[in-house]
Amino acid sequence: MDKLVINGGNSLSGRIEINGAKNAAVAILPAAIMASKGTCNIDNIPDIEDVHCIERIIEGLGCKLVRGKNSVVIDSTAINNVNANTEDVRRMRASYYLIGALLGRFKRATVELPGGCPIGVRPIDQHIKGFEALGAKVEIKHGCVTVEADKLIGTNIFFDVVSVGATINVMLAATLAEGVTTLENVAKEPHVVDVANFLNSMGANIKGAGTDVIRVFGVEELKGCSYSVIPDQIEAGTYMIAVAACGGEVTIENVIPKHLESISAKLIEMGAEIREDGDSVTVKSSGKLKGVNIKTQPYPGFPTDVQQPMSTLLTASEGRSIINESIWESRFKHVDELKKMGANIKVEGRTAIIDGVNKLTGAVVKATDLRAGAAMVIAGLIADGITEVLNIEHIDRGYPNIEDKFKALGADIKRASYSE
Ligand code: EPU
Repeated sequence: MDKLVINGGNSLSGRIEINGAKNAAVAILPAAIMASKGTCNIDNIPDIEDVHCIERIIEGLGCKLVRGKNSVVIDSTAINNVNANTEDVRRMRASYYLIGALLGRFKRATVELPGGCPIGVRPIDQHIKGFEALGAKVEIKHGCVTVEADKLIGTNIFFDVVSVGATINVMLAATLAEGVTTLENVAKEPHVVDVANFLNSMGANIKGAGTDVIRVFGVEELKGCSYSVIPDQIEAGTYMIAVAACGGEVTIENVIPKHLESISAKLIEMGAEIREDGDSVTVKSSGKLKGVNIKTQPYPGFPTDVQQPMSTLLTASEGRSIINESIWESRFKHVDELKKMGANIKVEGRTAIIDGVNKLTGAVVKATDLRAGAAMVIAGLIADGITEVLNIEHIDRGYPNIEDKFKALGADIKRASYSE
């Protein structure tokens, strides 16, 4: 297994480039299997384990893939299997998008219930409600979801909770339904818009993505297209927070600054400087910022996916900060690891009360999930002495070349192997 070994204390400077968005890519790849003609040429695909995993899964369904550096060509014309039940399917959350994609194209699918980061209960009741409203019969047995329909018929669906996964999944199926589907109380995340744009490039007719109401005008078939995935808002936010914590000045390139506004606003409130310029943001920080309160919310609110990296920054900021995690009830598993490094944090339910400390000290810690891993890397970068972050397979699921990117900015960080 691999670990990251970090000698903390360096400030960061220079430029880095952000890769394509994980949470867009892991939905766009399943969406590509809906093309019954032509090939999908998809660019700006991040080189991360979650993407490799989805690629293997769709190959298992009969798609032909030609992989390039940060790109993939997918020929899904000869899919011969609508059952997804491999170890890879169980490993990742986004495999649930196969249900919507296969239901849309073949009107049936059997997919094992997805896994993913252990950050909360993660139900899929809203996905199921949407598929049933479109006319599908849904059955859950022996850990598998089976969906089946003679035909899908457009209808009005009001989601009880704002869910990225349910919005995208039901949108996928509705694309090839008869008539118009109106989805209300939908998620507005940039990756929801990106998936809608991708489907429209394939011949779908989807309007309103990025607002509270999406209208899907069903079409008979989808075909291949060329598409470039949007930049990863969460990867960018993680590096912004790292620069704010370490101090220094870094330009983060290949971003859409609008997608980063809630993060930029908090960093400015804490005393960092942020400059936006076209497709880059520059973060300048003294490394000693003041604490703030955070409440995670669906987009355009502060994203839950940078809450954990942010908690590391708040740990080393002045005064008291309070985090309210409103999306995932178990997204504070990293707190015990931060405490090993000297952090002063008290967790009460969905709230973390953080009293800033002067210094963190290096320790051997674990990445308990993907974003927790990023939080521990940032902790190592600002701590006195050596930090070893174990279980970095979680980090490799979502951050391409994390050690190379930080090294290029002046951090003392290296990957090493270890055995348990
Ligand atoms: N929810 C339900 N019922 C459902 C679906 C969701 O009650 O049927 C609840 C969840 O329990 C949660 C809230 O709704 O409290 C939001 O969940 P959502 O469905 O939006 O989450 P998701 O689609 O499973 C995606 C990202 C997560 C990110 C969340 C929120 C992917 C593959 N995952 O998950 O990303 O935290 O949206 O923005 O897109 C990560 O990248 O680290 C990550 C965990």
